[in-house]
Amino acid sequence: MFVCADCIAIFYVNSSDQFVPIAIQLVPGDEETVHTPSGNEYDWLLARMYFRASVRSTHEWIHHYLYTHAVSETFAIATFRNFSRNHPIYKLLRQHVRTAPAINTDARVLLVPHGSLANMSNHLNAPSSVRKRYKTFNIHHLDIPASLKMKGLDDPSLLPNFHYRDDAMEIWGAVRKYVTDVVMHYYTCDADVVGDHELQSWMYDVAHEGIGWQDGNLRGFPDKLTTRDELIRMATIVIFASTAQHAAVNFGQMETYRFIPNAPGSMILPPHKRGEADHKRMMESLPGVVTSSILISFSYALSEYAKDEVFLGDVPDRLFTEPDVISIQQAFKQDLVRLQAKFEKRNESLRYPYTYLLPNKIPISIAI
Ligand SMILES: [Fe+2]
Repeated sequence: MFVCADCIAIFYVNSSDQFVPIAIQLVPGDEETVHTPSGNEYDWLLARMYFRASVRSTHEWIHHYLYTHAVSETFAIATFRNFSRNHPIYKLLRQHVRTAPAINTDARVLLVPHGSLANMSNHLNAPSSVRKRYKTFNIHHLDIPASLKMKGLDDPSLLPNFHYRDDAMEIWGAVRKYVTDVVMHYYTCDADVVGDHELQSWMYDVAHEGIGWQDGNLRGFPDKLTTRDELIRMATIVIFASTAQHAAVNFGQMETYRFIPNAPGSMILPPHKRGEADHKRMMESLPGVVTSSILISFSYALSEYAKDEVFLGDVPDRLFTEPDVISIQQAFKQDLVRLQAKFEKRNESLRYPYTYLLPNKIPISIAI
């Protein structure tokens, strides 16, 4: 049996602009499980391990599987069964969503089921944690600028050195510009959107057969599109979740998780109260060799790029043939090249370069 501490942590930006934890409560309502840096060294160290264990499981099943893999698959199914192959939105989205159903089918056999090694090694059960989080899932979680603002993470002056936010906002802007140019090319006014029956069927399918199929709750997703802006927002969400957001949450797993104490997938003993931790208790709380090996193996496998990986901005299938739209695709590529240089320049001054949103490391779709 693995213990999942329902942790609460308070963070603080210190005078060196570092985002650091200053208090962790391991059991809600139990003040004796509140730990701080000023307490016993092992109490604080072990409390951070419990917190990191919770973050790891939440990351894997919610931020990775639910918010990127499952979202991309939902749009993929609707895209393939509602659009004809010459529809511009089909041409825009196809390359970004086409691989998610296949990898998700594998995931639902190998990783997600109750008895799988990956599921048993993480202390949050995948199906139940996804089901629980899905109750409060909303489209705002996928709209990155809105999500960052909602969480109070959007202001660089209050939270400096948050490189994911800074790079994600830049990539989001480039994707949105690309989508805007394509949409404006094919839809001359909002009435064109309203009168596009394939597009309307696609949105209805996503909302009712995808997002709300089980309980009728559409979770903020529209079931029809009435303006070009709504279409631009939706397509930007699909492409970003299927590319940049997935890259950000997927490819750092080996680097972050290979040293088990840095982010244990599970903890063995119940959370400790103040004064209870020492070296022996810490070692007995961490997962054993077999569980640790499984966790590291999955982190390694999930962090690997395919040998024939295609990256964001490249165009593997020449679906668009109009010169104006090909120019739009080339402009998008140039925007990404510019961002690549900007991020690399920033990284030169960092002790730990942030590389997960370098455009040449963002696969064009979700395949792992
Ligand atoms: Fe993934």
